[in-house]
Amino acid sequence: MFVQLDERGPRYLQLARALKQAILDGRCTPATRLPATRVFARDLGLSRNTVLAAYEQLAAEGFIEGRVGSGCYVAAFAAATAKPAAAPPLRLRTSKLRLARRGRRALDLYDRAIPGRQYRGLRYNLQYGLPMTNPQLASAWRRELNHAAAHAEMDYPDPQGIVALRREVCAYLARRRGILAAPEDVLIVSGTQQAFALAADVLLDDGDRVLLEDPHYRGARQLLQARGADVRGCRVDGEGLVTVALPRGKSTRLAVVTPSHQFPTGAVLSLPRRMHLLDWAQRSDCWLIEDDYDGEFRYDARPLAALKSLDRADRVVYIGTFSKVLFPSLRLGYMVLPPGLRQAFVAAKWLCDRGCPAIEQAALAGLIASGAFERHLRQAAKALKARRTALLAAIKRYAGDAVEVADSCAGMHILAWLPRMSHAQSRALVERAQARGLGLYLVAPYCLKPLPRPGLLLGYADLPPADLQAAMRILGECLRA
Ligand SMILES: Cc1ncc(COP(=O)(O)O)c(C=O)c1O
Repeated sequence: MFVQLDERGPRYLQLARALKQAILDGRCTPATRLPATRVFARDLGLSRNTVLAAYEQLAAEGFIEGRVGSGCYVAAFAAATAKPAAAPPLRLRTSKLRLARRGRRALDLYDRAIPGRQYRGLRYNLQYGLPMTNPQLASAWRRELNHAAAHAEMDYPDPQGIVALRREVCAYLARRRGILAAPEDVLIVSGTQQAFALAADVLLDDGDRVLLEDPHYRGARQLLQARGADVRGCRVDGEGLVTVALPRGKSTRLAVVTPSHQFPTGAVLSLPRRMHLLDWAQRSDCWLIEDDYDGEFRYDARPLAALKSLDRADRVVYIGTFSKVLFPSLRLGYMVLPPGLRQAFVAAKWLCDRGCPAIEQAALAGLIASGAFERHLRQAAKALKARRTALLAAIKRYAGDAVEVADSCAGMHILAWLPRMSHAQSRALVERAQARGLGLYLVAPYCLKPLPRPGLLLGYADLPPADLQAAMRILGECLRA
């Protein structure tokens, strides 16, 4: 406990005065236990008798109660007399603070309303990115976490990620994504967002050109812009990134792509375009980041192998995340790195945070090894397919041709265009829906170049089919209002 003596008069009175002040200005609230006299005396460099005398003085005045020597507590009456601590010194407004350019850019980009937060409490929230809850997964996770905590190593973890998890990631990638990687190629990160941050640290200098699909994942754009990249967009159509529109020359340092399920349109990059993209990257001396955020969930056929599995020239930095297949609060993901980049990425990770928390990594390795993870994937794919089917049917029934669904057979969201509306009308639609308990999200914030027509990003993972139907009924009514 911090107290400052005023060096006026006997020591025990100085201490009693300092404690009284702490009680009166509310720093010591009623029922707070005062430190044991022996410990307090040692901490303050006073004799124990001095502390005892100070406590007796406070008890006599009624500021503390209890038996001196066996536990003293701030008296309840003090609540009535306590004044709030002096107002904190006037804070400088953020706009007046001297920040680095990166700090200023981060602030400018920061969404004060983090997507979806404003809709908490709404009955139907179609926020993209909410996970699907699975009670069986929750109990398996609890078991693994308990086990991992009981066997935890207390030393710093390997900054590259614990070997057990890297091994499980490799086996999973080989089974489900067609990627043949060794544990040395894998770096465990705290989600896709950190993977982008490390890629910016390792691959980009200020002002370097980065290419994004347009529309694209906003999290990637915001991070790269905050790090000073010169971000440009490239068109997307029904087959994914339009590779014939890729820039010529060697001016692009990095391109971020979502070939398995273009975010947010849902297009799957065709094989000829995959080959073209890899060839372009090689010729342009450009790194490719493959963000395989939800390639796992495909409902019409087996998931397509990842772009990384075709990468013969070691151009692709692959990113996977557990945010979609498990839950985003886990904050764990992984990168598969070309051998030449491995050291630099591990060094950047080590500098950044010394590695991801070992207990969660061990629990996750256990979850995958036990088979509970893939069991969850199977259950999730089934449930998501049913939700998607219910959503599509309800859109057709309640919204008719006021909504045009972009064709997509994968993922946890769909993109619904509003062909008859202006952008201003779509914003009014979102407000009307919110007033009726329905959270909707526009696609416009995910674009560099304004879209010719507005669209909605409808996340369906978190709502059961009946709720999706009710939500679409409200959407239909709002469209007609
Ligand atoms: C395209 C894309 N990539 C990655 C992520 C996941 O990011 P993270 O792993 O940081 O949770 C998301 C989440 O919404 C996404 O939409």
